[in-house]
Amino acid sequence: MTYTKAHALLEKHNQSHLLRFWEKLDQPAQAALLRQIAALDFVSIARMQAMLKAKDAAAAGGEIRPAQVVELDASTRQRAVARGEEELRAGRVGVVLVAGGQGSRLGFDGPKGAYPIGPISLAVLFHFHARKVLALSRRHHVRIPLYIMVSDTNHAATRACFEQHGWFGLPQADVFFFEQGMWPALDAGGKIVLDAPGHIFQSPDGHGGTLSALAASGTLADMEHRGLRTIFYFQVDNPMVEVADPAFLGVHLNEQADFSIKVCAKRDPQEGLGVVVERNGRCAMVEYTELTDAQKNQRAASGDLYFKYGNVAIHVFSVPFLRQEACAALPLHVAHKKVPVCGDDGKTVTPAKPNAYKFEKFVFDVLPDAQKIVSLAFDRREEFSPVKNASGDDSPATTRRDLSAKWARWLKAVGVAVPEDEHGYPIQLIEIDPVFAIDPADLVVRLRKRPDVSKPVLLQESAT
Ligand code: UTP
Repeated sequence: MTYTKAHALLEKHNQSHLLRFWEKLDQPAQAALLRQIAALDFVSIARMQAMLKAKDAAAAGGEIRPAQVVELDASTRQRAVARGEEELRAGRVGVVLVAGGQGSRLGFDGPKGAYPIGPISLAVLFHFHARKVLALSRRHHVRIPLYIMVSDTNHAATRACFEQHGWFGLPQADVFFFEQGMWPALDAGGKIVLDAPGHIFQSPDGHGGTLSALAASGTLADMEHRGLRTIFYFQVDNPMVEVADPAFLGVHLNEQADFSIKVCAKRDPQEGLGVVVERNGRCAMVEYTELTDAQKNQRAASGDLYFKYGNVAIHVFSVPFLRQEACAALPLHVAHKKVPVCGDDGKTVTPAKPNAYKFEKFVFDVLPDAQKIVSLAFDRREEFSPVKNASGDDSPATTRRDLSAKWARWLKAVGVAVPEDEHGYPIQLIEIDPVFAIDPADLVVRLRKRPDVSKPVLLQESAT
């Protein structure tokens, strides 16, 4: 893009202030700014501006009630597992890991996937995700491509982490990175924020950006070319995930669903998980911030919470549904934030109070577009303990504790008595590399001698 074109474009959209430092920029800075301007998505920006104007508009109306949730008994589970494993063996399953977020609550300097989470090994989050994919592909003698969504800010560091760890044992040819979109922030008047004389402030467009990024990057075409039909989707912060869980894949396939969601009982009424509801005959997600206190605390006749199940962002998509949604204009979610801004003197100031609006798309907003969805209940002790905060709930300490407890249950399931504290947690840390065992059935085959549980137990591929 040339200066003249940029100028005309910005004038048309009433954003000419982005060029106000033009004369003071050197040539590389001018070129970089022109690249940013060329990439601005003015269709979405117009939606953002309209949203700011309609700030007080009522939220989506209509009565809500909890969507139906499937709980698997032993025989339906067995049927589902058989169907899911058939899909895996046929090479029709791919895995999407979303890792483009900024991890601001954790405050870690680097991509969240590079955070050391192994209770003993301090292996990084990506290690557990990638090695589950590797273990599954070995078990089913099939290639399972791993597609990782990154953002402009963490792409290089994420790739470097995979390189540094030898791709965690995966064939490099089966690991793909694709970049999500970046969006500018707007001030209250709808103007795009500059954070330096030659730079537009931008942040990732939310995990809902997965849909458009899959298409724009050619990743969706790659999936179609490989004959993939079923995509398992999960988030980088939860190392407890049963990646491409055959039971979940199988239920999704048996129900011919477009989109499936794993849900678990909320820890307490205030836990920050969205709930899947039916509203006006369609399914939708209601964020916890949108539930009233009365709704959060409402009880069913059984005594359980009425909105009992929370969404933890573990999904299955059918590939045709991903294609259908690639161009969907998902709703925008807005947040008032502190955004660094460039003053008239060219200096960057980070304000003490929120000064601008950031926008995101959320992946679960595809729900109303799906003809058929499945909400599958799971036991959160087994599959959910995310790293969100630096301390307290959902922090590295609780995740390591929960991982260790899960692997202790596997040891117990194969007959190893594991000493526990008064809360039922193992006294010694336990860690099992997914490539050593991906479930208790695997463990029983791989464990040649009883581990000494009076010390920390780390079971890795080379151990016997
Ligand atoms: P979170 O909503 O927890 O956000 O993302 P975050 O950026 O990781 O952390 P905070 O809120 O700044 O502390 C949930 C998942 O969605 C991904 C994250 O990488 C994480 O796996 N995500 C989020 C993206 O891939 N892109 C985004 O724009 C936002």
